[in-house]
Amino acid sequence: MVNQRKKLVVLSGAGVSAESGLGTFRDNGGLWNNHSVYDVATPEAFHNNPELVLDFYNQRRRDVYKAQPNPAHLALAEAERDFDVTVITQNVDDLHERAGSTDVYHVHGLVTQARSSLTDEVFELEGKDIHLGDTCPKGAQLRPHVVWFGEFIYHMDEAIGFVEQADIVIVVGTSLKVFPFANLVDYARADAQCFLVTQDIDAVPYGFQYKQGPASTVIPQLLAELTLS
Ligand code: APR
Repeated sequence: MVNQRKKLVVLSGAGVSAESGLGTFRDNGGLWNNHSVYDVATPEAFHNNPELVLDFYNQRRRDVYKAQPNPAHLALAEAERDFDVTVITQNVDDLHERAGSTDVYHVHGLVTQARSSLTDEVFELEGKDIHLGDTCPKGAQLRPHVVWFGEFIYHMDEAIGFVEQADIVIVVGTSLKVFPFANLVDYARADAQCFLVTQDIDAVPYGFQYKQGPASTVIPQLLAELTLS
């Protein structure tokens, strides 16, 4: 009898990349403490002051290129040896992929890519910044391929399907304050093993075991336990 590999679904947020040097949003010193969402992360902001928005994401992109995956990203990639792993992330960095994860869904886009503000076609940036006047083949201004507040997220239906099928759900490094992503925890099966790994949280979702601590320490430990169990 072939030993069925368990389905492991990871729901990640900015905290999983914090130890790679990428700021979170709502922690002390977080991005939204230093920038107003309304100035840099809405379609209206891009309409009113595109250069400010492009500069903000050009800087975030440079930070991502300088960052390296940490032990949490690496352990989640290595877990593919023992589990059928799907990573559903809010993060616009590519650290899960650079760590070796092969099944990653970016619900808020990827800052390493640009998107046409007319056709939604996506383009690899290959280290380049986006400047005012950079256009798609149809002549429309390029924008960062990230989801701004007030815009629909990607892959929500697939994500719900993955969580509903999961034997194990690990939520890591997210405050679960942004919707609809935060609703995904409600789709976990009653018999699934569910874990929340984060430094701080207002409320632990029903049915989840809370493991407080830095992702780069807690995630490798948790995966080692799960592999043995
Ligand atoms: N290890 C684990 N968790 C951490 C670490 C760490 N080293 N450092 C911080 N955290 C936790 C914090 O305790 C917090 O719970 O990560 C979480 C970060 O929360 P937010 O800053 O709210 O980030 P996130 O949940 O990813 O935000 C969701 O909001 O602004 C939008 O689009 C943006 O994708 C983002 C979304």
